[in-house]
Amino acid sequence: MFKRFRQNRIDEATRRRNRENILSISDFILPLFIVDGSNICEELDSMPEVFHLSVDQIEPYLKPLVDAGLETVLLFGVPSEKGIDQASDEKGIVQNAIRTIKQVFPDLGVICDVCICSFSEDGHCHVGDNDKTIEILAHIALSYAEAGADAVAPSDMMDGRVFFMRRVLNAAGFDTPIISYAAKFASGFYGPFRSAADCAPQEGDRKGYQMDFCNGNEALAEIWADVEEGAAGIIVKPALTYLDIVSRAKSELAGDYPIIAYNVSGEYMLLRSGVDQGIIADSVIYESLMSMKRAGANRIISYFVPWWIRNSGRFE
Ligand code: PBG
Repeated sequence: MFKRFRQNRIDEATRRRNRENILSISDFILPLFIVDGSNICEELDSMPEVFHLSVDQIEPYLKPLVDAGLETVLLFGVPSEKGIDQASDEKGIVQNAIRTIKQVFPDLGVICDVCICSFSEDGHCHVGDNDKTIEILAHIALSYAEAGADAVAPSDMMDGRVFFMRRVLNAAGFDTPIISYAAKFASGFYGPFRSAADCAPQEGDRKGYQMDFCNGNEALAEIWADVEEGAAGIIVKPALTYLDIVSRAKSELAGDYPIIAYNVSGEYMLLRSGVDQGIIADSVIYESLMSMKRAGANRIISYFVPWWIRNSGRFE
């Protein structure tokens, strides 16, 4: 007597009926890069099908995506001139973008990445001192909350930033959720993003604050700490080479907190170029996105959203 596993794979209808995980547009969060100026909707050299958008171009750009069911975006501000103060300016690009989106697409969820690396002269995510940095970050987060953000997502990896941000938000009367990049690794896979967001460190690297990719237990400790400090959800970043962390977070947090996998720029570009150059079939994109879901991600931040919308009919 042996088991007949193949009975459940015999044809497409049977496979569909037995599928454990399904991807849909609801799984995705799309990153957007907001720039100063007007009339800018410029495809990036470093990332095809990813754009720099001025605030006035958000509506035409997003309309077809929202019509296709997109539920959430993640905003990054890319100012034309450096200066950390702009990041918390109520008339800053991100704040303007939030208000515009909320006006045109009231049901679209808006998460704002909170970090200073695109705003700071030296391209680092801190000002030299951990505790001074978390004060700045908390005030940036507050200005995003005041502009109407649905959630703020600190991506700096300073210690205590969730604790401090929660306190500042609460004191101002905002219960805006903090979705923390709790386990963010010092990864080589951020390369294309750094030119998109103009945030490459001028000197040195981010290894003094982002996590050592040799460590898994430490990632779980970071995740627990952020949850205890008040995070409403956590992000694991990058995604593909860190699915072990997604899976461990899923089981250790017992499903109590949403886990989001960030399918970062380098992952996007590797698959994208492989497919665009005809090296590999584009079904590997679906396969990779599904691996994040299967590992336990509740949502996936990905530049593949437009690709998914164009191709999901073949996979759904
Ligand atoms: C900024 C930030 C980075 C990414 C998201 N937020 C870059 C970095 O930490 O160097 C990377 C996203 C991507 O590669 O898609 N703190």
